[in-house]
Amino acid sequence: MQNIKAYLNQHKERFINELIQLLKMPSVSADSAYSQDVLDTAEAFATSLKNAGCDVVEICETQGYPIVYGEKIIDKNLPTVLVYGHYDVQPPDPLDLWDSPPFEPVIKKTELHPDGAIYARGASDDKGQVYMHVKALEFMVANNELPCNVKFMIEGEEEVGSESLGAFVKENHEKLANDIILISDTGMIANDVPSITTGLRGLSYVEVEVTGPNRDLHSGLYGGAVANPINILAKMIASLHDENNHITIPGFYDKVDELSRKERSAMEKAPFNLEAYKAALDIDDVFGESSYTTNERNSIRPTLDVNGIWGGYTGEGAKTVIASKAHAKISMRLVPHQDWHEITQLFKTHFENIAPPGVKVKVIPHHGGESYVTPIDSIGYQAASKAYETTFGKAPVPKRNGGSIPIVPLFERELGSKSILMGFGLDSNAIHSPNEHFGVWNFLKGIETIPYFYKYYTELLSLGS
Ligand code: BES
Ligand code: MN
Ligand code: MN
Repeated sequence: MQNIKAYLNQHKERFINELIQLLKMPSVSADSAYSQDVLDTAEAFATSLKNAGCDVVEICETQGYPIVYGEKIIDKNLPTVLVYGHYDVQPPDPLDLWDSPPFEPVIKKTELHPDGAIYARGASDDKGQVYMHVKALEFMVANNELPCNVKFMIEGEEEVGSESLGAFVKENHEKLANDIILISDTGMIANDVPSITTGLRGLSYVEVEVTGPNRDLHSGLYGGAVANPINILAKMIASLHDENNHITIPGFYDKVDELSRKERSAMEKAPFNLEAYKAALDIDDVFGESSYTTNERNSIRPTLDVNGIWGGYTGEGAKTVIASKAHAKISMRLVPHQDWHEITQLFKTHFENIAPPGVKVKVIPHHGGESYVTPIDSIGYQAASKAYETTFGKAPVPKRNGGSIPIVPLFERELGSKSILMGFGLDSNAIHSPNEHFGVWNFLKGIETIPYFYKYYTELLSLGS
């Protein structure tokens, strides 16, 4: 496939400009104020698939945002790769922390990105990474390099729990039938340390509400005599970890898959620089569960984090008040064998149990999903590994990641196929944060690498059968 480099050189300006047009569309799925923009973005991705060479492109309606489906079937007897990604993005706030507006993409050169990085919400998560696949398809179709069938499924609700996609997958087994699922919605260790994600954590997301008196009270007249929901909530949350930073919910660790010494020492081999990690985040030390390393804490261990907490007076100046209610949003990241429904129930029971007299507690479950691990001896992984070796000049490191893509284990259950997680982003891309960006080099490297996956996967599969 000598010509991929030449094709990229010839077309890269256009590829980047096309991506910039997509990044200008504020497809924020969490906020209904953007609903028309989300729908417009689905249309734009559908058009891009058509232009890249899909024979069939559909915008499939759902209860929520539509799913963009595309396919190019060249021969029913050849394998089929299903590409999954999402066109929705996280809300851009806090806006004042962006150096340039989130939906007005700019390219800036930085030390880590001497070829420039595109700054915009969704640049890395996930529009930029989905678009690598669209452009890889364009290249393969235009140059007669597509060795197998391909289907695309791009959803618009990943950032809010993929509810409609779950139903869509259950109802469309035949339409979505495939041999392997290919996803770029994760990252790699560094541009000179390619890695393939071999695991994702599960998730249980809940909201809690603590109610004290039936109205806000004067904190002088009532303070000291009535439970303050905010004080209580803070104390309840603090009690969810012990002095070793273990989670205190009874039964929480019962099913956790404990890795063997051997597996842990294999993990230890992945390149990691603690000093650089701390420096990049401006922290003087790391923090977490005792007797685990940083890389273990953020991948093979379950966690519990408050994502937001509110209540009472937060405006300018001071107001002496005991609020009637306090709230928090809490996420738990889960590891293999933990069942998210069960963990949600354990949390609910425990949180209700630890509430002192004088307050009422409500636990509202949101979304969740199971964790995922993929073996490295599969044909899919081997093909991906060879693809990286070809374009990066070295074999990728397998690495379990701490993030979640709950739809991935559902794909396995419903469609019976494994997902290969070829992410080209970096942890420093600031996904979900202000100043999200995606390296131009990473974008182009992704487009260069993906066609080799198709080639090696088809070759290895035909050797095997
Ligand atoms: N692409 C991310 C997940 C991710 C990023 C995994 C980097 C591994 C490395 C995805 O869009 C995401 O943000 N997922 C959510 C879960 C979802 C249910 C909202 C997450 O992990 O918080
Ligand atoms: Mn994503
Ligand atoms: Mn995301």
